[in-house]
Amino acid sequence: TRPRIVVTRWIPEQAMDVLRDVGDVWAPDPDRALPAEELHRVLAGADAAVVTLSERVDAAFADAAGARLKIVANVAVGYDNADVPALLDRGIVFTNTPGVLTDATADLAFGLLLAVTRRLGEGERLLRSRTPWSFHLGFMLGTGLQGKTLGIVGLGQIGRAMARRALAFGMDIVYTGRRRAPVDVEESLRARYLPHDELLRTADVVSLHCPLTPQTRHLIDADALAAMKPSAFLINTTRGPVVDEAALARALRDGVIAGAGLDVFEREPEVHPGLLELDNVALAPHLGSATVETRTAMAVLAARNVAAVLRGGEPLTPVKE
Ligand code: GLV
Ligand code: GLV
Repeated sequence: TRPRIVVTRWIPEQAMDVLRDVGDVWAPDPDRALPAEELHRVLAGADAAVVTLSERVDAAFADAAGARLKIVANVAVGYDNADVPALLDRGIVFTNTPGVLTDATADLAFGLLLAVTRRLGEGERLLRSRTPWSFHLGFMLGTGLQGKTLGIVGLGQIGRAMARRALAFGMDIVYTGRRRAPVDVEESLRARYLPHDELLRTADVVSLHCPLTPQTRHLIDADALAAMKPSAFLINTTRGPVVDEAALARALRDGVIAGAGLDVFEREPEVHPGLLELDNVALAPHLGSATVETRTAMAVLAARNVAAVLRGGEPLTPVKE
């Protein structure tokens, strides 16, 4: 019998074609997230599952699929939605999609940085509200980036791509993280390592590019925000819970920092109501990897991981921890 492959959310057709080559594919109604109970029912007897960050992948997920489950392919680079040890303990391969969304995510992070420092959202809201305005030299002044210091938290692939963009804009780069980057990476990005606290005190922009883990949950809390310069901006395109969102809303309201650009939220799809009332925050609904090209590449990579494993080969991008 052909393997049964369960796809939990809509994925691009090119990826579906890769999956149909190796098995019978069950795919959902594109407009609807499956409630966990229904998801567990359709998983029964699956040999493979393709999931997104909206699905919790844990022991109950594996048990719902049963003993045939060989691989779960996450269509995302971040995998805080998965209990990876629970899968590996059962001999199930788990894969993510590193590399293919690096540029798209860094582009969006830089876009949010420009949006908040140049007040683009605020300006658009002004025009759409049909408020009278006229050009003058003091009108809606923002903050320039040239000569300012970008502090990158997590100099992985996306952090490095952000640094390259910032270099092109004439910014200086400092970074922090669990470990130092190789010397050639530091040199090519002209990036200087700083301890976390010193980076917060020094940077004009702090951009988060670390994964969400127990160690990074609320990494940016009220104390971290207080350590930042009152003129500094915070950019978050990784995962919402890396920031204490209530503390951030207070800090933005009280002028503890100057502004923020946020693509991710602590309780998506909810956004802290305090943030929605502020003009000094640029908001996007988790669009980091949301280009046609990138989403196709992510889904095709996930599908190729499934195809490789169902054919008895090695996955392309396994998560091993
Ligand atoms: C998206 O948020 C991802 O982790 O790929
Ligand atoms: C992985 O860490 C990435 O940044 O793409």
